[in-house]
Amino acid sequence: MSFRILGTGKSVPDYVLTNDEMATIVDTNDEWIRTRSGIRERRICTTETPSTLATQAAERALKDAHVSAQELDLIICATIRGEYISPAEACVIQKNIGATCPAFDLNAACSGFLYALDVADGFFARKRVKKVLVVGMDNMSNSLDWQDRSTCVLFGDGGGAAVLGEGDGLLSIHITAQGDYDCLAIPRGENTNPRYANGSQRPVLKMNGRDVYKFAVNAMSKGLQKAVDDAGLKQEQINWVIPHQANIRIIDAAAAKLQIPRERYFCNIASYGNTSAGSIPIALDEMNKEGILKNGDLIAMSAFGGGLTSASCVIRWNKD
Ligand code: ACO
Repeated sequence: MSFRILGTGKSVPDYVLTNDEMATIVDTNDEWIRTRSGIRERRICTTETPSTLATQAAERALKDAHVSAQELDLIICATIRGEYISPAEACVIQKNIGATCPAFDLNAACSGFLYALDVADGFFARKRVKKVLVVGMDNMSNSLDWQDRSTCVLFGDGGGAAVLGEGDGLLSIHITAQGDYDCLAIPRGENTNPRYANGSQRPVLKMNGRDVYKFAVNAMSKGLQKAVDDAGLKQEQINWVIPHQANIRIIDAAAAKLQIPRERYFCNIASYGNTSAGSIPIALDEMNKEGILKNGDLIAMSAFGGGLTSASCVIRWNKD
């Protein structure tokens, strides 16, 4: 297909909110959170903002790719909530890094980064671009009900980025959506129109965890299987899986339905919780910077989230 990854970057807030500290905010405990989700701590914004995180991740990805901001032909930022309703977070990033190309946001919740790769692929296929910056970033701590222990313990803030250049690294990709705002939604919040008659809902995440869990296991196992099949590969050939980091039990349950050995699934959920659109690019950057990925490695990635959306792909790592 049409692109390869030239470089990656990530940025997470400095503040580490441990499970023990979480237990001082809501009625919970380290043991419950660890055994139900795999999370030990998460980063949350104190002085950072969505834009400072997204900009830093972008700058680090450009440096890793040896690409200048001026060379970029497109910026896509996957996020459910940038710093502003308008401008798009991608335009804020463009200004901060000194780029001049078109820029827009994409909202597919936790599947956003992979959705953005699919959109970027279309621009490469039409030969509209040579270099694209894709950022996945979310600031979930600002969309949580901090009195709801069933949700606030699961999320964290952060983001990652990848610079894409022409190449044949993308072997397969597919995206899905099934509209459902009963089991997972974050309302927009206050309506400032004085004649508006529908009232307002608090802009905090509401989730039926069990329904999302069932959707997630199915979406991840079927999505990975399809992505590998579409790439013309056997599951045993996949060197690494980068699953969306929402719950270690979801990853375990999906892995149990597949033939890819469990140790090939990269997991950093213990350190960051669920960072929504930031989850996969943060993991990708850690694997890249820690020297885990070797040229030629086949990497399957799979995400699911609000929408309900899902996305899966297979890439060949061919950075250098
Ligand atoms: N601490 C202590 N107890 C808790 C906590 C907590 N933080 N949260 C819930 N409980 C209690 C509940 O009140 C319940 O108590 P009860 O039995 O007395 O009623 C008990 O623990 C069990 O609750 P369950 O909901 O059954 O727990 P479950 O094992 O299903 O795990 C979880 C819940 C972790 C939310 C799981 O369902 C899950 O991971 N779902 C998927 C979530 C997800 O991946 N979301 C992604 C969305 S991301 C996006 O798109 C923005």
